[in-house]
Amino acid sequence: MNKFLLLMLLLALAALTIACVPEKPVKDGHGELAVVIDREFTSPVTHSPLDWWQTRHFQAVNNGDIKEKDCLYCHKVERSCNNCHGYVGVRKIVP
Ligand code: HEC
Ligand code: HEC
Repeated sequence: MNKFLLLMLLLALAALTIACVPEKPVKDGHGELAVVIDREFTSPVTHSPLDWWQTRHFQAVNNGDIKEKDCLYCHKVERSCNNCHGYVGVRKIVP
């Protein structure tokens, strides 16, 4: 086959694959599920290391170290709590 045609075919396939990837709640990602936090806020020390915090933040809240409403000083529930909670199937945070 013509090399140019083959290249176009591969590019089309790649574009199709990217378009079909389901949306995920990714920080500063795209779409409705994107996790967005106001840029004026810096990450508090409790969030470090971030990958630990991403999976363990509920411990800090459930054992009473940090009150849920204090998270909402920086986080808007719709943009950086419940979009992810809805995706993973955790109860919604009520402000
Ligand atoms: C002082 C502001 C502030 C407070 C208070 C705060 N956060 Fe955050 N949070 C941030 C910032 C900024 C980021 C982004 C960190 C980064 O990208 O390095 C973040 C990231 C996160 C993430 C990871 C999001 C992702 O997709 O990577 C989770 C989960 C999270 N915070 C939960 C909480 C919870 C739960 C609380 C309350 C216990 C809380 N935060 C309190 C500012 C805050
Ligand atoms: C990037 C995804 C993500 C974001 C953003 C996120 N969470 Fe979570 N959250 C989870 C996951 C996943 C769990 C379940 C962890 C488990 O059970 O192992 C969870 C669990 C929790 C729990 C425990 C729920 C329960 O019923 O015991 C609380 C409380 C909580 N999150 C608070 C928050 C708050 C407040 C915010 C916003 C400031 C937030 N989370 C943002 C993913 C996220």
